[in-house]
Amino acid sequence: MRIIIVKDYDEMSSKAARIISSQVTLNPKSVLGLATGSTPLGTYKELIDLYNKKEIDFGSVKTFNLDEYYGIEKQNEQSYHYFMMNNLFKYINVPLENVNIPNGNAKNIEEECLRYESEIEKEGGVDIQILGIGANGHIGFNEPNVNFETRTHLVTLDERTIEANSRFFKDKESVPKKAISMGIKTIMDSKKILLIASGEGKAEAVEKTIKGKVDPKVPASILQLHKDVTFIIDKAAASKL
Ligand code: PGA
Repeated sequence: MRIIIVKDYDEMSSKAARIISSQVTLNPKSVLGLATGSTPLGTYKELIDLYNKKEIDFGSVKTFNLDEYYGIEKQNEQSYHYFMMNNLFKYINVPLENVNIPNGNAKNIEEECLRYESEIEKEGGVDIQILGIGANGHIGFNEPNVNFETRTHLVTLDERTIEANSRFFKDKESVPKKAISMGIKTIMDSKKILLIASGEGKAEAVEKTIKGKVDPKVPASILQLHKDVTFIIDKAAASKL
């Protein structure tokens, strides 16, 4: 486990973007595992910047996102499809046929979860998975009291997650209660993991993840058992370490 403590959000973002960019330079056909939320936004901005400076070429990469809300259209502004398109994909040269995000609106959710897993497998697995962390210790939408053995599956969102994500919706009631998420097994199968965290609100989750015991109550704590995981944490998020 490598822990890099940086000054602030901007430094976290540029370091994370440099790591992703090195990965793509070393292997232009990299399979990137991507995340949504406020934390990776700065990283995506940096990646767009590196792309504009011709320092990175996404022409052959494949991407798999961690999760998507259940029962939401791709075109919906709250969907993670929309988020990824408008915060990254439309500004870089990744071919859209190389982009994968669970279909939260699939008729048969079980089939969709299996399809998603088999697509990841077909590409030889994720080379580097970017993760944020919830204040409750979740990764993807794998909420506290997680089953560490799960693969992509339908999850019920934790009350704290609904509360946290309500900032993107008109009110708390409008936040979907379910989502499709890569499971812990899917995440742990990634060859490398890069977890980024910023702000005091994440300090407790970061502390439990790194210093606590591996515990389903803190889903991210499982990362202690991954053989190639890097945490980039700003000072505020690292304040309880
Ligand atoms: P955030 O979400 O980046 O919006 O804080 C992180 C997460 O819930 O995984």
